Amino acid sequence: MNTNIMENDISEVLLSQEQLKDIVKRLGEQITKDYEGKKLILVSVLKGSVVFMGDLMREIKIPCYIDFMSVSSYGNSTSSSGAVKIIKDLDTNVIEGSHLLIVEDILDSGRTLSYLKDILERRNPESIKICTLLDKPDRRVVDLNADYVGSSIPDEFVVGYGLDFAEMYRNLPFVGVVKPEAIARIIKESDAN
Ligand code: IMP
Ligand code: MG
Repeated sequence: MNTNIMENDISEVLLSQEQLKDIVKRLGEQITKDYEGKKLILVSVLKGSVVFMGDLMREIKIPCYIDFMSVSSYGNSTSSSGAVKIIKDLDTNVIEGSHLLIVEDILDSGRTLSYLKDILERRNPESIKICTLLDKPDRRVVDLNADYVGSSIPDEFVVGYGLDFAEMYRNLPFVGVVKPEAIARIIKESDAN
């Protein structure tokens, strides 16, 4: 599959590569200022945040550690199941004395992050905050806000820059909306398999 084939499935580009670059730079500058002199651990939530994480960490100009967690809250559908399970925990177990910053692709219902934040809070970090590239405030079902938000977006299902639909489109360099007919096609294909 080449990029053009993927791009044909996109109805609208919400955030271009240039816009994403500016957003990530701004967040990096803010984080650099806020965490100066502190032991910072960036906790990337797999897989959606990997592209954002890779760009964001290079815009942070103070020493920082990175770690990864994987939780599942979504199947191949576009709505949250509500169930959240840890698939991969942090490698680091020395969290006391550290400032954790959870790096997430998108804050939607808020269930995933609220669960993750609770688990990590119980390990007694110095502080714990959330940095999300995208925020869909209209979709929130739990009381949770991010401390750093790249961009608030309307209630539309978006892909690219790490975000997927049924594991597809993560490698698109921009954030866009998938055409309903593409979603229908992918669901049909996966039903056939
Ligand atoms: P929440 O628990 O409902 O906040 O779901 C957060 C997770 O759902 C994100 O980390 C994404 O993996 C996924 N998600 C929510 N909205 C979208 C979207 O528009 N596109 C792709 N993934 C999404
Ligand atoms: Mg995710």
